[in-house]
Amino acid sequence: MRILRALMKNAAAVGKQVDFYSRFSPSPLSMKQFLDFGSENACEKMSFVFLRQELPVRLANIMKEISLLPDNLLKTPSVRLVQGWYMQSFQDILEFKDKDADDDKVTHAFTDAVIKIRNRHNDVVPTMAQGVVEYKESYGTDPITSQNMQYFLDRFYMSRISIRMLLNQHTLLFGDKVNPAHPKQIGSIDPHCHVTDVVRDAYENARNLCDRYYMNSPELVLEEFNAKESGKPISVGYVPSHLYHMVFELFKNAMRATMELYGDSLEYPPVQAHVALGLEDLTIKVSDRGGGVPLRKIDRLFTYTYSTAPMPLMDSSRATPLAGFGYGLPISRLYARYFQGDLKLYSLEGFGTDAVIYIRALSTESIERLPVYNKSAWKNYKTIHEADDWCVPSKEPKDMTTFRSS
Ligand SMILES: Nc1ncnc2c1ncn2[C@@H]1O[C@H](COP(=O)(O)OP(=O)(O)OP(=O)(O)O)[C@@H](O)[C@H]1O
Ligand SMILES: [Mg+2]
Repeated sequence: MRILRALMKNAAAVGKQVDFYSRFSPSPLSMKQFLDFGSENACEKMSFVFLRQELPVRLANIMKEISLLPDNLLKTPSVRLVQGWYMQSFQDILEFKDKDADDDKVTHAFTDAVIKIRNRHNDVVPTMAQGVVEYKESYGTDPITSQNMQYFLDRFYMSRISIRMLLNQHTLLFGDKVNPAHPKQIGSIDPHCHVTDVVRDAYENARNLCDRYYMNSPELVLEEFNAKESGKPISVGYVPSHLYHMVFELFKNAMRATMELYGDSLEYPPVQAHVALGLEDLTIKVSDRGGGVPLRKIDRLFTYTYSTAPMPLMDSSRATPLAGFGYGLPISRLYARYFQGDLKLYSLEGFGTDAVIYIRALSTESIERLPVYNKSAWKNYKTIHEADDWCVPSKEPKDMTTFRSS
């Protein structure tokens, strides 16, 4: 009884802290700030002082949104698990609130805590996804719930990407000093990331999966246009792992569409990739001739769990599937949007699809795009959605003759 009371008291105290930190807005950083901080004045103490305030703010902002989810979703074991991880990590950081930033022991202990938090949150995406599936299976789904869920997941996963970015920068800069695999990187950022290298790498790995599944795969035709410095390879200050993730997902989709359409043919139209650098944008287009998707369905492809592939087995001993979770496009779009870019699909039904990734060419323009918990966010969960303000077309066109004759 006494233990239970103590636990409840602790939960209430944490709740108050979450309320407090959620009133601050997260502070978005630009790629340039990440780079400057890492290259010139990388100082563990400064990073510590920034993170012990910023991490609780980002965590609390999204924790408030989690708490607005429907009760029956919050009660699923998976969402409870995720909520528990957030609570624990929030408390772990608050431990350092009043500690002495000049004490090396404190800053080292903080770096250890950051590593622990990062590992604790490794499985957040599939666990939250599992919660949503369980909820939809038990309580069914309607358009409003689906819309709210999409709104929440976009913000939740974006928040996670941003928090991981901060955690990774800190551990890579101050954990093992130099990243042995990528000595020229500033944490997870490559100041001169060669885009076509990443594209080729992603293609090769997607191709391996495709070969394994279909026993064959389309070739790659890659072209680059550097309008800024003609003839030079295109490079940008960016997080190579984010870029890789996006292009890899697009290649897997393009290959699957091509292979499904061409079935047993011995030759397949190649997948094309164009990389272009202008003054503002760095654009990567992945084009396939896999038959395309009708316009009516394009938006749906970005909804979480939407997939036309058979559900893969959740068995880690098996190879990664080529498709099937329905997370490829929505998560890739979040990576693109995270630094103010975007990801769009343009399809020619009957022919093929162009998937385009837009990235800001200037590191001063690549600024984190972060969700903030405020009244407008709150309203999205609470307002009862009213009728659409556009007419719903009826299946049968009205018989106009009756109007004309009167
Ligand atoms: N290039 C494309 N051509 C035709 N259909 C596509 C293309 N890209 C995506 N799609 C459709 O969009 C759906 C969703 O794509 P998405 O990448 O989000 O999930 P997935 O490929 O099914 O699974 P995974 O999460 O493993 O990527 C696909 O199942 C497919 O039906
Ligand atoms: Mg996919």
